[in-house]
Parts: sequence; structure tokens; C-alpha cells
Amino acid sequence: MSAPETGSWVNPLRNPQDRRLPRIAGPSGLVIFGVTGDLSRKKLMPAVYDLANRGLLPPGFSLVGFARRDWEHEDFTQVVHDAVKEHARTPFREEVWQQLAEGFRFVPGTFDDDASFQKLKATIDELDKARGTGGNFAFYLSVPPSSFPVVVQQLKKHGLSEGPGDSWRRAVIEKPFGHDLASAQELNRIVHDVFPPNEVFRIDHYLGKETVQNILALRFANTMFEPIWNRSYVDHVQITMAEDIGIGGRAGYYDGIGAARDVIQNHLLQLLALTAMEEPGSFHPKALVTEKLKVLSAVELPDDLGKHTVRGQYAHAWQGGEEVLGYLEEEGIDPHSKTDTYAAIKLEITNRRWAGVPFYLRTGKRLGRRVTEIAVIFKRAPFLPFESGATEELGQNALVIRVQPDEGITIRFGSKVPGTAMEIRDVTMDFAYGESFTESSPEAYERLILDVLLGDANLFPRHQEVELSWEILDPIEAYWEKHGKPAQYPSGTWGPVEADEMLARDGRSWRRP
Ligand code: BG6
Repeated sequence: MSAPETGSWVNPLRNPQDRRLPRIAGPSGLVIFGVTGDLSRKKLMPAVYDLANRGLLPPGFSLVGFARRDWEHEDFTQVVHDAVKEHARTPFREEVWQQLAEGFRFVPGTFDDDASFQKLKATIDELDKARGTGGNFAFYLSVPPSSFPVVVQQLKKHGLSEGPGDSWRRAVIEKPFGHDLASAQELNRIVHDVFPPNEVFRIDHYLGKETVQNILALRFANTMFEPIWNRSYVDHVQITMAEDIGIGGRAGYYDGIGAARDVIQNHLLQLLALTAMEEPGSFHPKALVTEKLKVLSAVELPDDLGKHTVRGQYAHAWQGGEEVLGYLEEEGIDPHSKTDTYAAIKLEITNRRWAGVPFYLRTGKRLGRRVTEIAVIFKRAPFLPFESGATEELGQNALVIRVQPDEGITIRFGSKVPGTAMEIRDVTMDFAYGESFTESSPEAYERLILDVLLGDANLFPRHQEVELSWEILDPIEAYWEKHGKPAQYPSGTWGPVEADEMLARDGRSWRRP
């Protein structure tokens, strides 16, 4: 396919009103800062290829890498090639690859070097002419937060933050977005000084997951769940994000950050917001954000953080037949580190729907297995007209949204055991994505990169959400900083015993997912 004329290509299939049609990006390009990093190789480059392979990118789509490497064009192309071969989800097709690779450019340089940004500008101008990108570029900052200010300021200084005519320029920002409220506010100020808020896309890759979007479908496209989705019927909610892996090679990033900042501040609080929010007026970013903000601002922490929060650190153990190091023995970790690799917290949402219903959030590395789920646990029936022995094995009704793996929804309820006696036991009813649909879900980053190119902000947290989430977490981090150290838990278990005790005090227990 030949390159289209500059700025003249209008996507015939793109009708923003009809979401059933394939959503195909218009003329555009993506610039990745930090292109040599892990995220870029494992997620971003493969996602770009998969989007191209699914026919969702325009023919002249261009990818520009920017990094401090002495690379020639061929070196960059080879790196993308290897990343795609290793990590892409769709089959490798030579013709798709060839067309995509024609739009690759590499700009070597450091973030403080004016000449490199001049080169980047010249590269973008050249692509507009040669590939018809129409001046539309997204700048993906896959860099540490300490580099955000210099990169956005350089983009402004070199006239890159505004495109010609009615073209767009967007900033895409990876987490962590700050390490507390003050730093997040400062970053927001710096970014908004250069890009208008509606052109800033903050990545929370959990929102790109199919099952996370399905929370909205489950709640607002059906009638049978909404009437019981409140304090009258719900006993409590457990949101779990468990990983069986350790910190891998990420010591530099992880130590000093910890589990709560790494995933509760963003992924888990977003899951909580989607689970607990009111129905939005429409599926429009503004409407969704309004509802998420309302629920996040209604979050309250318990008075006694010592009793209702727990942090832990994984310890040396045998996990799945393999001997694994404890966190403090990992390479690059301060042996006296107090960083949490496990965190459990209890929150309440003080509004009419949820007052008095605890939300328990927990996450950890090196736990029993990898699973993310939202479990809504219902109250017991107010009266059981059976002999007491009949219901000894009956638990509480539950609706579990399995975010990953084995994506789906499970409902647990009591059922009579076949036989002449009346005995009631828990059974489950299962919906599995894999069995009900033949289409495979796109990878989260595919969905999110496409949305950036389309300017669809629905699945991106706004700056107020990020700040509110820090407001929730900051007092917990401050408490932990002052009091004690993380409890140790053997790798491969479900976290420290203190976490079990935390729920036991409330007369509850964690689910074993
Ligand atoms: C990232 C965290 O945001 O999410 C990592 O920084 C974590 O520590 C990862 O491993 C998990 O993502 P997923 O999609 O594999 O659940």
C-alpha cells in the first residue's frame, strides 16, 4: 500500500458513534522515549505490531524511537523485529512487518540535548511528508518520573508539543505517577503547563484489560445485579491482585516504592472505583470520571491503621519446587529495606450505597499463584428455615469477577446436596470468556495505544483521580514509615499471618482464590 497524501487520509470506517465497527486510527505516529526499556520491548513494540496486523493502524503509521544509544536505523529496526518476534500475540506476517518498518525512525540522544530534539522535530516533519502522518503524534514517556519534566519541557521548547494546523500532539505517561500526593501534583502541573489536560493520557494498564471493562458491562447492562449491589445485601468486598513472581530485575525501581505504591494506588483503586461507582450518565470520559471521582472522594481510612493495614516482605522458601530468595536477599536490595512486597488495607466508602461495607484490598509478590479478582461477598440469609445441621457447610453467596487468568465471572450460592436428607452446600456457576467467545481479547497495551491515537480518553485516569488515590494512600505510607517493619511471609504462601488476623478481627477471612 502506498503512503497517503499528507493529512488527506480520512478513515472511511471511523464513525465515532458506532463502536461496533472496527476502530481504526487515523494518520498518526508514535514517539517512544525510553525505547530501549523493558516495557517498550515487551509491551509497546509488540502492541504496535499487533495493531498493524489487525489492520487497526493507518498505512503510513510511523514509530520513532528516542534513546541514548549509538544505534543506526538498522539496529533499531532489528530491536523492534526481535521484540515483535518474541512478544507479539498475532502471527508474524512479512508484508505487515515490511510496511510497518518503513515508518521506523531512530533518534539518538539524551533528554537534555537540544540538538537531539531538533533532530526529532526534523524527523517528524520528514515523516509528515513521506508517510502522511498529518502532524499527529503521541509522545510516549516510558521513562522514570524524574525525567518527565525535562522531556515535556524539551518538547515545548522545540515546538513539538503543538502540531501544525488542526493536527494533535498527545503525551502518554506511564506510572508511577509520582510517589505521593505532592509529587503527583507537581508532575501534573509540569505536564499541564505543556499539554492541555485532554491531550494527556496516563496509562493504568489494568483499565486496558477486557475483564476490567466488563465490570461496567456487568453492572450497567444488566438488571439483576444492580438491586443487590449495595449495603443492604453486600457484606464486604475483597479485591485481590496476587503475583507468584518476585521483583525480577526491577530492584532499582521497586525498593523504596513497594507494593502499595506500585499497584494499590493505581490498579486496585481503579478496580475499587469501577466496582463501587454509581451509573454514569453516558459512556463518555467526563461522565465516567465524574462518577469515579465521587467514589474515590468518599473513601475513608479506618482510625486505627495499625489494626486495619498490613504490610509484608517475602522470605526465602521453596516455591513450586524451586528455591527462591527472600526479598532482602535479592540483588540490588538494601538488606535493611522496609519496602513492602505485600500490602493489605481496609477501606470504607462513606455514601448511601456503601456506608458500613468494608472493602479489603490486598496485593503481593511471591504469593500462592497469579490471580486478580474482585469478590463481592453477600450477607447471609436473615433466617434459615432448616435444621441447623443442614446448613453447616453453607458459606456466603459471592460474585467473583476474575480479572486474570481464566477471565470470567463466578457466582457462588447454596444448593441442596442430592439425597433424602436436607443438606445445603456451596456450588458455583461459571462464565468463562474463553468458552463463550471465539474472539480473543486484545492485550491491554494494544487497546490503550489505539485509544491514544483515536483520542478516546475513557480508559485513562484523569489527574484528579491520580491525586485522590495518593490522598488515600499517603496516610498509610506515613503510618508505615513511622511504625515497625513489614512482617515476613514465606514465598509461595498467601502473605503474612497478620493479614489473616486483620480479617479475623472483623469476623471474616480472605478467599483462597
Ligand atoms: C505493574 C507493576 O503495574 O503491574 C508490576 O508495576 C506488576 O509490579 C504488573 O508485576 C502486573 O501486571 P499484570 O498485567 O501482569 O497483572
